[in-house]
Amino acid sequence: MGNLNPSLIILKPFKTGALQASRLALKERGLKNLPLRTAMKKAPIIIAEDSPFLTTETRQTRWAIPYNFECLNARIDNLLTRNQNCIKGKRVLDIGSHMGTFMYSALILGAEYVQGIDTEEKTIERGQELFQQLKVAESRYNLQVDDAFRYLENLEEGSFDTVLCLGTLYYMVEPYRLLKLMQKVAKETVLIDTFTAAYAAIQGKEAPDVYRAINEESLKLPMLLTALTQPGKKDYRLPHSFPHRDKDLSLITLPTDALLKIWFQSLEMSCTEINWKEYQTRPCTYHDLLTPDQKKSSHWADVYTSGVRASYLLRAAPGSRDILP
Ligand SMILES: C[S@@+](CC[C@H](N)C(=O)[O-])C[C@H]1O[C@@H](n2cnc3c(N)ncnc32)[C@H](O)[C@@H]1O
Repeated sequence: MGNLNPSLIILKPFKTGALQASRLALKERGLKNLPLRTAMKKAPIIIAEDSPFLTTETRQTRWAIPYNFECLNARIDNLLTRNQNCIKGKRVLDIGSHMGTFMYSALILGAEYVQGIDTEEKTIERGQELFQQLKVAESRYNLQVDDAFRYLENLEEGSFDTVLCLGTLYYMVEPYRLLKLMQKVAKETVLIDTFTAAYAAIQGKEAPDVYRAINEESLKLPMLLTALTQPGKKDYRLPHSFPHRDKDLSLITLPTDALLKIWFQSLEMSCTEINWKEYQTRPCTYHDLLTPDQKKSSHWADVYTSGVRASYLLRAAPGSRDILP
């Protein structure tokens, strides 16, 4: 457990190699005039390059939210470390935890206890192996195969201090219902990181049709877009699918930022939007992320700074629990 003591973590900037690669990528994209300060945000290392959480990761090279050293540590930094007051000494629940990379990071940042749930048995088993391999005390964590709705419905109000929902809300056909359940279970904080409506215009077979049908103005409306997706992902399978035009498909749900904020308001949760500007390497909108080439040459932060993905820290408004039915 010594490796989980936050005081023992060595906070180092990324290696020179990573810096040079980013410099080169910027140059290739003709962005060399951008102040390097904005492109070279240094994140402390929570998950080391040789950590099994990275070496066994199969999502390292995908274009959106790659699980590589740079992107993962920057996301941990911006989502968890900078909100350490919601993590340190807290009981944390991670919905759609996959193999527990963010749970493990929360422990490093001082969480008292972390609970992960995910419908995919294989990733939960992998997580259990990794936590054992890293000698995390069994009293500090639990990884369980379960469906988010079923699990949350059976929990008492305020069972956890903090609920993480990272990359999972858009897989829910009933996202508002999930939000409501997370609000019930979180005593203090809900942290959300999710794709928004613009994602429907850039990813998936129907994306070109959606792209033609929306614009910057309509994306400001409180609306929810849905998109079809393959249920079988690289290392997990979405729990709900249905036959559609001779294929087995699932739905993802993509609210606009405006709708998400109305939902948060209706649940009496105060919302702080997490800002990704420090990681920005270029001005970017969803129009810059349409083609395979554009996606391939994009920087990981583009999905955030373009508004295609957004993150929110939600806090229960004082007294709001008292008026819940
Ligand atoms: C994109 S991954 C995100 C993983 C992790 N939170 C992270 O940020 O690295 C989404 C995860 O949600 C899980 N998932 C999808 N639907 C679920 C449901 N109804 N209940 C629980 N987990 C679910 C998937 O199995 C998958 O592991």
